[in-house]
Amino acid sequence: MTAFRALFVDQKSPEETSLEIKSIQLDDLPEGDVTIRVHYSSINYKDGLATLANGNIVKNYPFIPGIDAAGVVIASSDSNFKEGDPVIVTSYELGVSHFGGYSEYIRVPSKWVVPLPDGLTLREAMIYGTAGFTAAMSVLALQDHGANPQDGKVAVSGATGGVGSIATAILSKLGFSVVASSGKQGSVDYLAKLGADEIVSREAFQPEKLRPLDKEQFAHAIDCVGGKPLSYLLSTTKYGGSVTTCGMSAGYQLNSTVYPFILRGIHLLGIDSVYCPYARRKEVWHHIATDFKLDSLDAITTEITLQDLPEALEKNVQGGILGRYLVRLI
Ligand SMILES: NC(=O)c1ccc[n+]([C@@H]2O[C@H](COP(=O)([O-])OP(=O)(O)OC[C@H]3O[C@@H](n4cnc5c(N)ncnc54)[C@H](OP(=O)(O)O)[C@@H]3O)[C@@H](O)[C@H]2O)c1
Repeated sequence: MTAFRALFVDQKSPEETSLEIKSIQLDDLPEGDVTIRVHYSSINYKDGLATLANGNIVKNYPFIPGIDAAGVVIASSDSNFKEGDPVIVTSYELGVSHFGGYSEYIRVPSKWVVPLPDGLTLREAMIYGTAGFTAAMSVLALQDHGANPQDGKVAVSGATGGVGSIATAILSKLGFSVVASSGKQGSVDYLAKLGADEIVSREAFQPEKLRPLDKEQFAHAIDCVGGKPLSYLLSTTKYGGSVTTCGMSAGYQLNSTVYPFILRGIHLLGIDSVYCPYARRKEVWHHIATDFKLDSLDAITTEITLQDLPEALEKNVQGGILGRYLVRLI
């Protein structure tokens, strides 16, 4: 039986956790139909939370976090997958209540497994990861509600984060004019390289006084942070526009009124990547591999190994990550 490496988070006390790379065996993995040799994983907001004692992600310790994995099937009892198939696993319970992707091997239910689409490598799939998948879902939701580049500017909040970076780059590739908001030093060059036309401060989307209806500015918006910026975007989106919501790093509360909806016909579109239905999931990955595929992936990627993960996860928790962190496990 082969021993392999995985990053474990453990609880030292109710207030303190520790991270350690340990050697385990395939038999230590949870039940599942498909066993996968993981080649790449990535860092998402939730992965940072999973390392915190008060992060409200991990229920049982010791635990292997990592909500993303891409690799090659080594064994499958489901005939839809066979040894050697390149596959992607994101969402569901992976890295939340089921041992996750910060491991050289995972075993998962086959209904979580998506075949790697043509046109995408395993490495590229994990540069997108859950963040890129969520960005792609957000852009598709705008398009499903009729958004097109002629409508005017599209706002993106939290633009240097994983979701925000990829949303900015996909929108720009599709010909949309993007107004990106960021609170990070050094974000201007970074966001300009991704194709943002205008870069504004974080405060620009969080004015002291929030009006129920403010001056119309944006045709549509992709909000990655919730809280005040989401309220602001609802009040400044033009008649008939759409605003997507997927995150809450600026807060989970929404301070708004019915006015944007009943006086401007604004659509507020909720985005959930975790239980996105399987058929839609495959469709989103197909877009990522084709019309949403970015040439600028290297500009947003920092590649690390399992050993580098504890430090990178801490940086993520402190909000210091620019773009996407790719974790190489081969
Ligand atoms: N609904 C879903 O299925 C789904 C899927 C994936 C992620 N998410 C959520 O989406 C959000 C973004 O995820 P991510 O992977 O992009 O995370 P991330 O890489 O950590 O980026 C979050 C970004 O939010 C901004 N931010 C952080 N703290 C803030 C604050 N206090 N006020 C305003 N902005 C703040 C920062 O951008 P700037 O420095 O550029 O301002 C930061 O880079 C998270 O809340 C995550 O949980 C949801």
